[in-house]
Amino acid sequence: MSIRTATALAHPNIAFIKYWGNRDHDLRIPVNGSFSMNLAGLFAETQVFFREELQQDQLILNRNKIRGAGLTRISHILDEVRRKANLQLYAEVSSKNNFPTGAGIASSAAAFAALALAASKAAGLDLDERALSILARHGSGSACRSIPSGFTEWTDGKTDEDSYSFSIAPPEHWDLVDCVAIISSGHKGIGSTQGHRLAETSPLQKARISDAPRRIEICRKAILERDFETFASIVEKDSDLMHAVMMTSNPALFYWKPATLHVMESVRAWRAKGLPVFYTIDAGPNVHVITLKEKMNEVKRKLENLEGVQKILTAGVGGAARILE
Ligand code: PMV
Repeated sequence: MSIRTATALAHPNIAFIKYWGNRDHDLRIPVNGSFSMNLAGLFAETQVFFREELQQDQLILNRNKIRGAGLTRISHILDEVRRKANLQLYAEVSSKNNFPTGAGIASSAAAFAALALAASKAAGLDLDERALSILARHGSGSACRSIPSGFTEWTDGKTDEDSYSFSIAPPEHWDLVDCVAIISSGHKGIGSTQGHRLAETSPLQKARISDAPRRIEICRKAILERDFETFASIVEKDSDLMHAVMMTSNPALFYWKPATLHVMESVRAWRAKGLPVFYTIDAGPNVHVITLKEKMNEVKRKLENLEGVQKILTAGVGGAARILE
């Protein structure tokens, strides 16, 4: 019998055009397309082992045994893999991140991308990038963007089969760096799975969605042409729009802390003085400050001096999810 184990590595990603709200919550088909880049140096490493002797799936996350909702979410992906591979075995899944959870970096994106790849490989399936991206999406929407390499686009799609990510440019296309200003590493109150369900309760969500194709065109062109100024303003606009929706949903989601706003204002002021830098913020208080690699040390120093910033994590543009031999 073949060895039913595999280990995969995947990077988290930071979205430039954000995913917020689903057309189909179960399948995680988004209401709008999005863009991101993978974060090099940060990763989730996941081993999947299908074994005869198991009575149920098991999950070890950063050396802790996980039960309940966390395990159910993993089993959901394993069930899909078992169905595709016609396999009846339960699996032992062990996963670790080399970056802190709750640091404003979506650990679920890296985790589900690594899980999709490791589980399908361990089950003997040979899925192409598109099929892997769709499988990862079923675990966490943004995970589909961590499958392909570098700068990736996720098409919204109308059906399960046409909502997936692909690379629009490799990591070496543009030497960008994400300096993540950690303001609080406390766990967020309302996570993104629930947040996506609340998006439609905001009267601003319709406007955000209807303008998305325009922002997507501008963002794609700016990335491909390495047009930093245009890129900076469209990415900040898109992040602000998502947070406007969050703040006006019911219940309202306020992720920003006073220090978040302080970083945002400082970044805008630095850019006005000629420094290539902009911000984008996910579902938490920490600020992703994007700059060119050659300016990384300067930006890092400036961020370190801001009140309320606890520490800075840095990451360049990362590659695709991959199997570790
Ligand atoms: O993939 P999820 O369900 O964790 O949602 C991610 C949502 C944001 O990080 C806020 C935006 C995005 O596009 O990554």
